Amino acid sequence: MGLYSETIFPWLLDKALGHPRIAARRAALVGQARGQVLEIGFGSGATLPYYDPAWVTRLTVVEPSDGMNRRAAHALAASPVPVVSVPGAGEALPFGDASFDTVVTCLTLCSVSDVPQVLAEIRRVLKPGGQFLFFEHVLSEDADRQRWQHRLTPLQKVVGVGCHLNRDSAAMVRAAGFALPPVVQEQERAFGRLAPLLPVISAVALR
Ligand SMILES: C[S@@+](CC[C@H](N)C(=O)[O-])C[C@H]1O[C@@H](n2cnc3c(N)ncnc32)[C@H](O)[C@@H]1O
Repeated sequence: MGLYSETIFPWLLDKALGHPRIAARRAALVGQARGQVLEIGFGSGATLPYYDPAWVTRLTVVEPSDGMNRRAAHALAASPVPVVSVPGAGEALPFGDASFDTVVTCLTLCSVSDVPQVLAEIRRVLKPGGQFLFFEHVLSEDADRQRWQHRLTPLQKVVGVGCHLNRDSAAMVRAAGFALPPVVQEQERAFGRLAPLLPVISAVALR
């Protein structure tokens, strides 16, 4: 892979997503993780400090990018919970059916190649009644903002290494068969000045 996607982008992402507003949302999300936990699209490990050793028996993380995995080595060495890192992608998880109590994605469904396939894999590896925790930026509910998201997504896919601004992740999670109560979009705060293009949702879906 290229210098941009494997070296520059992982560094940029840590800078761009290192804001305390994002950290607070990561902490609130993964603080709900229980039991055998899988995180998909682990990146450089920004969620890791927030897993609670009182509740998490073991964390497995999957990340396809070598550059991200290199950056994650530091975080993994200081993990508060037992953790194993498995190279791979969400579309073909190398785990048996019903292996996990919790699956987590954090700003990842925007970037995977095939969302329905990743969600089908998450459902497959979750135990019945297991929880899928996700924090994602999504397609806006506002028609004007949506137009800009559609226009800018081709550029964002290049700059953000596959990241889409216009994915309706909650609808896709429901279409994949999860139980998901109504989700409120947070329009203004998480991404500061870029928030109009990056409304976020944080939710728990049940298998
Ligand atoms: C925007 S980054 C977020 C990283 C991290 N979750 C965070 O919160 O900082 C998206 C991540 O998804 C990973 N990713 C891209 N395609 C993927 C796929 N098909 N399966 C799993 N992860 C993928 C990328 O390599 C990247 O680490």
